[in-house]
Amino acid sequence: MEINPWSSAQYADYSRLREQFGIQALQPDDWEQLPRPPSFFRRGIVFGHRGFGLIRQAILAGDPWALLTGLMPSGRMHLGHKMVIDQIIYYQSIGADVFIAIADIEAYATRGYTLEEAERLAIQEYVTNYIALGLQPCTIYFQSRHRDVKNLGYLLGKKANWSEVTAIYGFNGATNMAHVLAPLIQCGDILHVQMEKYGGARPTLVPVGVDQDPHIRFCRGVAAAHRLFNVTVAKDGRIGVFVKPDEDVARLLDLAAQVISGRGLAMKRLDRYKAVYLPDASPEDIPALDLALAREEQEHGAYGFLSPSSTYHRFMTGLTGGKMSSSKPESAIFLTDTPAEAKKKIMAAKTGGAVSREEHKKHGGQPESCVVYEMFLYHLIDSDRELADIYRRCRSGEQMCGDCKKMAVCLMESFLVEMQEKRAAAAEQVGDYVVWDEG
Ligand code: TRP
Ligand code: SF4
Repeated sequence: MEINPWSSAQYADYSRLREQFGIQALQPDDWEQLPRPPSFFRRGIVFGHRGFGLIRQAILAGDPWALLTGLMPSGRMHLGHKMVIDQIIYYQSIGADVFIAIADIEAYATRGYTLEEAERLAIQEYVTNYIALGLQPCTIYFQSRHRDVKNLGYLLGKKANWSEVTAIYGFNGATNMAHVLAPLIQCGDILHVQMEKYGGARPTLVPVGVDQDPHIRFCRGVAAAHRLFNVTVAKDGRIGVFVKPDEDVARLLDLAAQVISGRGLAMKRLDRYKAVYLPDASPEDIPALDLALAREEQEHGAYGFLSPSSTYHRFMTGLTGGKMSSSKPESAIFLTDTPAEAKKKIMAAKTGGAVSREEHKKHGGQPESCVVYEMFLYHLIDSDRELADIYRRCRSGEQMCGDCKKMAVCLMESFLVEMQEKRAAAAEQVGDYVVWDEG
């Protein structure tokens, strides 16, 4: 199995994906203590992560942290796109410093949009709907208009080579160069929020769909490659701070020693191993020490970016099966659909019901493979009790698909009408969110 961030495949087997790519499972321990755990955690919609522990720690300690995610403006905004914005709004409500990249360069390089088309779509479809959904003021920018992002992407490329990107992305001799640069610009997006000008080194969460994991892996590698120090558990089990470059080692060890003593930790310096060992430290001390070192690196003119953390959410199934996609209007409910349009699509949707009414009554249906149930689960029903009730009644054959559909139509109608009402005011507020020219 391969993940291709530019294809529109549906990844059904999430646990296999996780195992193959080393994505961690997101477990109740990871989120139970967060304020008001939202349904995307409780219901396993966000199912995996890399390094979420850093974010959890920052939230619980009240330390600063950033969130950056990006959207590729291609087609109209549908319910599948809403999942990430639900997460952003939650994290913003508990203190995240939020940045949203509009990937207009990527849409140009990989999808054939002009920058003008991408801009129009991004504002009219995405940003306006985000605001209508409740996003509070934050920083939304265009890749093509952000000088720091573009410069950073370019410069970070110094520590990524061709064999690495061909191995990750399958680039070949026919790949256009703007496409080749897209992963680096995405690194610029993700890491620029840790530049001193934008808040400095701090944990950064990138909530995305699992198709974006190759970019995350790449970016974590690039961030690490530019670090001057590496804090890790050495072979003998001791914690050590290691100097990575081969120049200026003594000065860098001085710096590490300063940071360590500043934190009141015991140490043993071994110049010939380019290391300072911490005999009394434990693995729990690593994140705070790493952050202190990253800040010190920044003071001394290096990048000092912490590797970004990520979470992965499931995709929404299209109403006709397969993935929900803007290019297949009958598969998606758009946020700008009229209730009548939505009704038509819902009534025609593929459910997990049995072949006949009699069969269904006798053997029950399969909510796990029902897109109507999925709409309840992801978007329409907030009460876990009510949802569990539908699940149970479906399995036992008491709940009929017709009733579910009617209910979905009704809930969707209130949602769409509310969105429609809020969009007019939202359109007026775009200027409070979008930074037009930055850097
Ligand atoms: N590549 C993402 C997509 O296809 C868009 C994107 C651009 C992005 N920059 C980002 C996502 C930074 C997360 C973080 O949708
Ligand atoms: Fe889906 Fe409802 Fe039919 Fe069950 S009864 S399969 S949940 S539509």
